[in-house]
Amino acid sequence: MFLPAINPTKTKAWQALENHFQKISEQQLQDIFEKDADRANHFKIEWQNFYVDYSKNRITKETISQLLKLADEVKLKEAIYQQFSGKKINETEDRAVLHTALRDFENMKPVVKATLQKMELFSEGIVSGSHKGFTGKPITDVVNIGIGGSHLGPEMVTEALHFYRNHLKTHFIANIDGDAVAEILSELNPETTLFIIVSKSFTTQETIANAIVVKEWFLKSASEADIQKHFVAVSANIEGAKEFGISEANIFPMQDWVGGRFSLWSSVGLSICCAISFKNFEAMLKGAYEMDNHFKNEDFAGNIPVILALLSIWYNNFFKAESEAVVAYSQYLHKLVPYLQQAVMESNGKSVDRNGEKIDYQSGMIVWGNVGSNSQHAYFQLLHQGTKLIPTDFIGFSQSLHGNKENHNILMANFFAQTEALWEGTHHKNIENSFKSFDGNKPTNTILIKKLSPKNLGSLIALYEHKLFVQGIIWNIFSYDQWGVELGKTVAKGTLRAIESKDPSKIKNQSTANLLKKFMKE
Ligand code: F6P
Repeated sequence: MFLPAINPTKTKAWQALENHFQKISEQQLQDIFEKDADRANHFKIEWQNFYVDYSKNRITKETISQLLKLADEVKLKEAIYQQFSGKKINETEDRAVLHTALRDFENMKPVVKATLQKMELFSEGIVSGSHKGFTGKPITDVVNIGIGGSHLGPEMVTEALHFYRNHLKTHFIANIDGDAVAEILSELNPETTLFIIVSKSFTTQETIANAIVVKEWFLKSASEADIQKHFVAVSANIEGAKEFGISEANIFPMQDWVGGRFSLWSSVGLSICCAISFKNFEAMLKGAYEMDNHFKNEDFAGNIPVILALLSIWYNNFFKAESEAVVAYSQYLHKLVPYLQQAVMESNGKSVDRNGEKIDYQSGMIVWGNVGSNSQHAYFQLLHQGTKLIPTDFIGFSQSLHGNKENHNILMANFFAQTEALWEGTHHKNIENSFKSFDGNKPTNTILIKKLSPKNLGSLIALYEHKLFVQGIIWNIFSYDQWGVELGKTVAKGTLRAIESKDPSKIKNQSTANLLKKFMKE
């Protein structure tokens, strides 16, 4: 066993936190702030272009001290070392977890370097127009065909870094929904489109089925030989990609030590390189690398991913909060939450510990949210006055990219004001109308970043990757497998067989069988 396997609830720190929780759970954040004039300076971390204020949390110095002891007792330091040194910490799949090696500029593995060079060369050919389609025209559109980690990361980043984009148009075919595929194809010209089929396994039902539809569409205007100019694959399954008809030279390899939901740093990022050019992709890797070093080397007390993870544990396991929200005050980050949902929930949605025993405490938080200020006009009412405790991360940027200062000031005024309102409520005002009275006391973290640059985005994504890893270590679960998803895939295959053979009796559950009958009749 490469990772320590310690039941967190049996540690001394957990017991201390239980007792401490009894003492402080009723305390109001507003009062805690009043008692400590320097609180905001104490509960903050400044690192490079990041300023993380976590003072608006329902914590005291004692809380943090006990949470840090918990991290020590579950041997977090040792676990971090095991991950970075390439031990097979994904034990249920017998794999190392080395997405950090994809951006390790100091000790870059030859295979990583070679893949990056191949990505650079290829994407530059596409961007410059030197790579020509089958009728001699340059490529204008790039389509990423993939799902889950083979989609969410590339799409999130190309949207987030839209400001840095070149002339190419990027599209994403992920859903097996044929209507969605038809809509995208209707916008494309086969002569000028590049398709990147992204699938680590090259067996994912949705991706392969969609790739076949696209290939058939392409072959209506072109010949088999033209495929080599318009289709490339990203996969760890080289044979599978070759069988599909893609030549080896057009296959960008992936290693088995890169998990799907952490793969945007690998050749899975090829569509990102095409969209924003390789130098920006590399800058993003550098930002992630800097965050890796911060995470590896900084004392836990000043370590952003560790502190944010511990706070999340505090709310999940002691306050019994079920979810946390992430609200980024940048329209560019409108795909951040779906990306984080896969990263966090596919990783930490587990109920068996690293000893194979069922756990009797809560694990993975539900993550949800959207961009601000839009969210304020949608679900924020529930954050302010609902009965549920929902700790929220606010992410914002000091500088706007296009320089519209007026709008940016309004946007950021809302960003700061919301954490203030959630903290204070109407506590200091004497409001008699109970409908208009707010308790406040709602916890938030504020992550203020200088600017939405490729480098800072890389650091931000790596921050959340490390945060979820720390949580998995503390909960004593394996964060890097996803057996639950595999079960869903198997059941879907059986259901498809029942549909294709027109025999719903193959389905055991009466409710599903009835639904299938209805579906087949219509
Ligand atoms: O959703 C399950 C999953 O295995 C993810 O972890 C992965 O990102 C996705 O399917 C796609 O897998 P592949 O890249 O092998 O097509």
